[in-house]
Formats: sequence, C-alpha cells, structure tokens
Amino acid sequence: MLTHAASVFLLHFLPKQVLWNRLVRDLSVGLYTFQPCFSGRSALFSLASELRGHGESQRVALVPEYVCNVVPKAFSLAGYKILTYGTNAVLEAEWDEVAKLVVETKPRVLVGASIFGSSALLFELEDPHKQAFLRSHKVQVVVDLAQDIRLRHRLPMNCSDFVHAVLSFNDKSFPGAMGGGILSERTVPRLGEMSTTLESCLLLYRMAIGRCLAPLLRLAKREPKGRLSSSNQTYEYSFCETFPYCIDKQTLAPLKLQLIMAYIGSKLIGVFDARKRILLRRGLHLNTAFSATAAYVMVKNEPFEHDVREVRSRRRKAPYGIEGNSAISLRPTDLILHNKGFADL
Ligand SMILES: Cc1ncc(COP(=O)(O)O)c(C=O)c1O
Repeated sequence: MLTHAASVFLLHFLPKQVLWNRLVRDLSVGLYTFQPCFSGRSALFSLASELRGHGESQRVALVPEYVCNVVPKAFSLAGYKILTYGTNAVLEAEWDEVAKLVVETKPRVLVGASIFGSSALLFELEDPHKQAFLRSHKVQVVVDLAQDIRLRHRLPMNCSDFVHAVLSFNDKSFPGAMGGGILSERTVPRLGEMSTTLESCLLLYRMAIGRCLAPLLRLAKREPKGRLSSSNQTYEYSFCETFPYCIDKQTLAPLKLQLIMAYIGSKLIGVFDARKRILLRRGLHLNTAFSATAAYVMVKNEPFEHDVREVRSRRRKAPYGIEGNSAISLRPTDLILHNKGFADL
C-alpha cells in the first residue's frame, strides 16, 4: 500500500494529457472508446444527457428496480421519467417484463447494471433476436459496469451503434477517489470543467490518501471486527448533493489524481482478483453471473453461516435504499460483503 501511495505521488510528474491518453488506450474496447469523467455518476449523467431525445417517450429510461439509487437519480436529473423493471433473486433482469415495457412505453434508454456480480443485460445483448428487438424499437442501452471494470470486455462488439457503458474508479475495482468514465462509439461532449477550488482538491486528495492507506489506518486504530453484529442497519443511499458526490454540470471532468489512481489501479486488477478467491473458495456466496470478479458478493443468508470467521471479519455493505426514499429497501435482509481484493476487512 505504501508503494501504491508512492506511485500516486510520482505519477504527478507526468502531464495530465499523457495519463488521459494511456487510459483511453488501455480501457477502450473495440469501437467503445473510453471517455474519462469525474465520477461514475457524472458519467451516467453525461451519457443520459447525450442520449436524450426530444419527444416525451424519448425521455423515458427503463431502470432495474433494485440498484444503487444514484443510477435512477442521474437519469432523472438529466430529464428522464424513470420506469423500473424487475430482477430475480440473483439480480438478473426479468426479460419478459423488460420486453413488454419496451413495447408499451417505447423508452429511449434501457439500463442494465452489474450489481454484486449480476450480468447487467450482457447475456441478453449476446442474443441476436434480442439485439434485433432492441434495434427495431430504437432503444439505446446503457450498461452500468461501475462495480466491475473487467466486464467491459464482454460488451457486444456488433452493438456499439446502440450500446454504451459506464465505469467507475471509485473504490470498487481498485482504490480511487471518485473518477470514472463512459465507453461509447459516440463522443459524449464534456458538459463542464471541474471547478477546482483548493478546498475540493484537498478533499479528494484526503480521500485518496485515506483509501490508499485504509488498511494500515484501521490496523493502527485497532478497529473492532465483526461488523455483522451492528443492529441498527440503514440502507445505502446517496443524496448526490454535496461535493464530491454531487451530479452537476460543474463536476464532470476528472482530476489528474483520479486518472493516476485509475492508471495504477487498472494494472493491479490481477492482484485484486487473486485476493478475491479467498472468500469465494469458502463457497458461502450466492453465485451471481460474475461473482468471481465483483466488488461485492451476496452471502447465503442462512443461520450459523454468520459465525464463519471469513464472513464476520469482512466489511459489510448495506442493502440499497430506493431512489426518493432512503428508509425503504426492496431487499432489506440481504447480506452483502465487500470482496474487492483490497480494503475488505
Ligand atoms: C451500479 C452503480 N452505478 C453507479 C455508481 C456511481 O459510481 P460513482 O460512485 O463513481 O459515482 C455506483 C456507485 O457505487 C454503482 O454501484
């Protein structure tokens, strides 16, 4: 981790454009060109704004009902009406419901999101019949890969005319201080430059240092383990109002720090993947489509399993609250553990 912090410092001597170009080279896949943004949420907002049409149905977005609330929020801030579709126990889309909603509501955008390793519609997008169906209904698809940057290699190479994706560098696939971007054949205009006040810069640097050194800091503070015993659970919810979590036109371009962290982080993915296997080998998790590389896994919610040391010692992620009401979750009893390969304890 100290080497990580030292590399972050040294890479500041490279010009920002060099880092930018390297990330574009490393993260683009086929015709999906990587376009860096300030965060995953601002990437969603920029892409949503770019895809929005003029008529009423051109402003409808179909979003999974259970997802990080930031996803529907970014679309509604970009002027969309949000409709939701159901997902099953392992967070896969109920395709029949999606298809019915597409026919009935003619949405401009269909969003798939990889949550705890679910497939984010990537399997559906491999099917030629479903591709033809979506094309014929003129639906643009946004594949949210914020929780697993590796899945970008699974984007369908023959669908870049209507499929786009979003990545996040915000401490899910590797340590980061916000940061993210868009993968699209279209060039999405940058809606605004980051207003770099000294205060906002310092805040992001503090965030980055904290995240690079998190394991050491926790050790020094001798934080108690066994977070599963905490009883008054709240749901995960972002109001997206205060910097750096806000989504607005002033915070869309990335800082050099974020490009550096993404550059280093993307080189360390193999190391993090190897560490993920420690928990996965215990077989306590629910097998979602891509749980092997996901940043979080769902654990079978059975009695006694919670006493297993690997489960007790892990950081726990609260279930998602629903957009507009942080006190309600559609899956309040789910047990979700961090499995990023870094800062999991
Ligand atoms: C599925 C999903 N999409 C988007 C985001 C937003 O990413 P960021 O935190 O980089 O804004 C998150 C955040 O955790 C997420 O889980």
